[in-house]
Amino acid sequence: MTHPNLLVGTKTSDDAAVYKLNDDLAVVLTVDFFPPIVDDPFIFGQIAAANSLSDVYAMGAKPIAALNVVGFPSDLDMSILGEILKGGASKALEAGIVIAGGHSVVDAEPKYGLSVTGIVNPGSQTANSTSKSGDLLLLTKPIGTGIITTAGKQEKVAAEVLENAVAIMAALNKSASECMISVGVNACSDVTGFGLLGHLREMMEGSGLGARIYKSKVPVIEGTTDLLEQGIAPGGTIRNLASLKSTVLWDKEISENDKILLSDAQTSGGLLISVNPDKADKLQQLLSEAGTLSNQIIGEVYTPSDTDPTIHVTG
Ligand code: CO
Ligand code: CO
Repeated sequence: MTHPNLLVGTKTSDDAAVYKLNDDLAVVLTVDFFPPIVDDPFIFGQIAAANSLSDVYAMGAKPIAALNVVGFPSDLDMSILGEILKGGASKALEAGIVIAGGHSVVDAEPKYGLSVTGIVNPGSQTANSTSKSGDLLLLTKPIGTGIITTAGKQEKVAAEVLENAVAIMAALNKSASECMISVGVNACSDVTGFGLLGHLREMMEGSGLGARIYKSKVPVIEGTTDLLEQGIAPGGTIRNLASLKSTVLWDKEISENDKILLSDAQTSGGLLISVNPDKADKLQQLLSEAGTLSNQIIGEVYTPSDTDPTIHVTG
């Protein structure tokens, strides 16, 4: 779909659409919703809302308003839906946006998310397809939420490990986005269902470039590795890894569990930022001052030759 005012559309698997209204203003449009990944309805609402807002933050835009998107079974207690919506509203308040309405349908399984509208100066958005060769790659949250929530459903995870992962998923990418806007970066995507390497692949294919990732530098949520060693991995994560086959060159010190971890489907993951090396120190410093969950540099972008893989993972 093309239109002269559509600055970012469906061509680049980007996080949100950007539509120019005039020379000074573009709207950023996105929608995201999914079934519960934790038992507590209020916390599920918080995580779903943070996840939906993240696509606007990933575009380097400011969210302003949202609509609730709800599926709910007719035979479930309506107070549960009330808690889900309260959780979403608490994140809207924290983000400084207004929830202006919404729509619900009867559904076999509850589902919740937001359709978020944001604003940005036309051309200032951080698309996922505009990385530059030589950029450093920086990640603002540790990974492992897919593995941990799957272990949670199987009741195989320690309460404190799950609580920590829940806090990470419920955290907004607001301050990370503000830091990235203030420094000025080349590209960004948030890490969600396709996992770290899946979203990196979208960025690199969109940019026509390749990336090297240092496994030892990727921040990982505490407890994730233990669960991996017990053989716990979500189906989506295993599918992500299978789909990366022809894209990734793994060095031989990278274990099968490392591969699963780097492919792990995240919910409300961090921002994966592609930044000019001259600006990386400043960005790391601002993220640290803002208290984001990670400000780790995990790799770099290069111009691949014909024989280079899109992604090269080393130890
Ligand atoms: Co996204
Ligand atoms: Co999304």
